[in-house]
Amino acid sequence: MYKTTAEHEALRKAIREFAEAEIKPLSFGLDQNNEFPEEIIKKIGENGWMGLPYSEEEGGAGKDVISYAIAVEELSRVDAGVGVVLSAHTSLGSYPIQAFGTKEQKEKYLKPLAQGKKLGAFGLTEPNAGSDAGGTETTAVLDGDYYILNGNKIFITNAPAADTYVVYAVTTPGIGTHGISAFIVEKGWDGFTFGDHYDKLGIRSSTTAELQFNNVKVPKENLLGKEGQGFRIAMQTLDGGRIGIASQALGIAQGAFEAALSYAKERIQFGRPIAQQQVVAFKIADMATKIRAARLMVYSAAEMKQNHENYSMEAAMAKTVASEVAMWVVNEALQIHGGNGYLKGMDVERFFRDAKITTIYEGTSEIQRVVVANHLIGKAPK
Ligand code: CAA
Repeated sequence: MYKTTAEHEALRKAIREFAEAEIKPLSFGLDQNNEFPEEIIKKIGENGWMGLPYSEEEGGAGKDVISYAIAVEELSRVDAGVGVVLSAHTSLGSYPIQAFGTKEQKEKYLKPLAQGKKLGAFGLTEPNAGSDAGGTETTAVLDGDYYILNGNKIFITNAPAADTYVVYAVTTPGIGTHGISAFIVEKGWDGFTFGDHYDKLGIRSSTTAELQFNNVKVPKENLLGKEGQGFRIAMQTLDGGRIGIASQALGIAQGAFEAALSYAKERIQFGRPIAQQQVVAFKIADMATKIRAARLMVYSAAEMKQNHENYSMEAAMAKTVASEVAMWVVNEALQIHGGNGYLKGMDVERFFRDAKITTIYEGTSEIQRVVVANHLIGKAPK
C-alpha cells in the first residue's frame, strides 16, 4: 500500500501554494468567460510540472506517477479545468509517444512536451465512436511517403491550444480494432483545422474542440508504433489517463470539502455553528471518509503503474470510485452552503458543475465497469 514520501508532500505544498496564489484569483473569471489560461499553463511548464513522470533525458522531471497524481489533484483542488489541461497533456498527449515512440519521435515531440514548451492532446473520440472507441471512422491511406488523413474528432481536450496531437485512424478497413493506427500530427499542417471550442457545463478554463482533417499529409515517420497497433496504444494510454481523471475528481472533492468545512464552522444557525450540529457534522465526517478511501485507491493505482504492474483494472476502479465520490461530495458541500452555494462566484457552485465530467470522459463510469468486469470474468457482455 502506498505511503507518500516527504518529497511527495513537498511537491504538494509547492503546487498548492502556486494554485492558491496564481490560479485561485483568476478561476471565477476563467469559468465565466470560458477562457483558456495560457499564462498559467506557461508558468506550470516553467516550474517543471508538465512532464513530471518522464525522465530527465526525455525532458521530464524524473518524478514518479504518484507525484503526477498529486499535481493533478492539487491543481484541481483549486481549478479542475487547469487540472485536466495537465492530465490530458501528460497522460494522453505525451505518454503514447514516451511508451511507443522511436528515438527520433521522442526527441522531436516528447522532449518539448515534457519540458512544457509545447502542449499535447489525444484525438480518439468521434461522432460515431465514443464509448465504442473501436468504431473509429477517420482514415489514413498510405500514399508514397505520407499517410493521407481524413475525418473528424470531437470533444478533444486541449484543442485548439495544443501543438501536438496523437490521432487514431483506420489504416486497414474491415478488420476492426486491428486496423487502427496511431499518428503524431502537428497543429498548422495543411488541411488540419478546428471547430469552435465548446461551451461546457464545467471545467470551462480548459479548452475542448473538434479536430477536422481534410487530406492532411502525415509523414510516414509520424506513424506511432506499428500499423494496426493503434487501438492497443489508445487503450494502454487510457489506462494511465484514468489515473489522471481520478486525481482530478479527488482534487475537486477535496476543494469542495474544504469549502464546506470552513463554511460550516462559520455559519451560525440555531445559536451555534452548523458544523456543531449532528446533521451537518455527519456529512463532514462522511465526506472526509469517502475522500480518504478514494485517495488510497488513486495513489495505489499510481504506485502500481510506477512499478510496471498490470494496473488497468485498478485504474478503472479508482476512476469509478473517485468520480462518484466527487459527485457525492460536491452535492453535500453545496447543500451545506444552502442558498449561498447556489450563487455564481461561490467556489462550491463551480465544483458542483466541474465534478460531472469525471464520470464521463476517458471512459464513462459504465465503461469503467466493463473494464473491471473484463478483468474479473473475461470478456463481459456490453
Ligand atoms: N491495454 C492493452 N490492450 C488492450 C486493453 C488495454 N487496456 N484493452 C483492450 N485491449 C486490447 C484487447 O486485448 C484486444 O486485443 P486482441 O484483439 O488482440 O485480443 C483489443 O484491444 C480489443 O479489445 P476489446 O475487444 O476489449 O475492445 P472493445 O471494442 O470491446 O472495447 C472498451 C473495449 C473497454 C469498451 C473500449 O472501447 C473503451 O475503453 N472504451 C471507452 C473509450 C474511452 O475511454 N474514450 C475516452 C476518450 S478520450 C477522452 O475522454 C479524453 C479527453 O479529452 C480528456
